[in-house]
Amino acid sequence: MANAHTCEAPTANLQQVATGDRAILPAGAKTIPIYVMGKKYEVPETLTIMKAMEYAGFTFLRGCGCRGGICGACPTVYRKEGDYKLHFGLACQTVVEPNMYLAQLPFYPANRAVYDIEKIEPTPEAIHALYPELFRCVACNSCSKACPMGVEVLDYISALKQGDIAKAAKLSFDCIQCGLCASRCMGELPQYHIAQLARRMYGKFIMPRAEHMQKRAAEIDSGKYDALLDQLSGMSKDELEKLYKEREREPDMAAQGTWMPQDKQYL
Ligand code: SF4
Ligand code: SF4
Ligand code: FES
Repeated sequence: MANAHTCEAPTANLQQVATGDRAILPAGAKTIPIYVMGKKYEVPETLTIMKAMEYAGFTFLRGCGCRGGICGACPTVYRKEGDYKLHFGLACQTVVEPNMYLAQLPFYPANRAVYDIEKIEPTPEAIHALYPELFRCVACNSCSKACPMGVEVLDYISALKQGDIAKAAKLSFDCIQCGLCASRCMGELPQYHIAQLARRMYGKFIMPRAEHMQKRAAEIDSGKYDALLDQLSGMSKDELEKLYKEREREPDMAAQGTWMPQDKQYL
């Protein structure tokens, strides 16, 4: 486990590229104390919680996925010295602060109903039957305060109580299923699982169909692109790279909807 107080300046001619899990520290980065499971570690002040823990010697086998704030695997609860408040964040997105007391919450044992989306009725009653605990919500708003994605959790729960599936689906769109909301709920609701059901119902039964997508899927099924795919599959790496570099490309600053490729045979 590393325990340095300053980090060595990187060699000047080394390329400064962060690769995978590697933390590239600025020259002279200072360290600060953080506490992981009650034990103190000195870590560079520029790192995210996740990288700081790796710097301190931890290896993530669970509780780490995308490292980009999308997968919901790294919810973290922390308290800061002298502060009564609990704070919440994603370990891969939140930068360390001095004297953070950290606890990882990679999984929360929330109730998850079993259903077959092919057979379910897209009605509020179906949601209420699968998740009757929805009505245990007391509107305390602890869930919204805990959400690292800024989702208005109470609002989507209220929409579902009122039977508005479309509103709940839209309000919960940014949910990454991290479980922090459920961890704070005095009504013991699994908010994110309920909202996921609402989004599934909305996507499958309520949202208008994308006709252009259906047309393209039918074209794929009809074999329109088979010959092209066979041709691409038979090319060497060099031939593919050349083709890629010479492809027609939409100009970066083209006004939306104004550009069309000259070769329209695959549109
Ligand atoms: S709604 Fe709940 S599960 Fe979804 S991102 Fe927010 S806290 Fe996490
Ligand atoms: S934490 Fe639970 S009880 Fe409180 S508002 Fe959210 S869903 Fe309702
Ligand atoms: S690792 Fe995916 S959200 Fe943090």
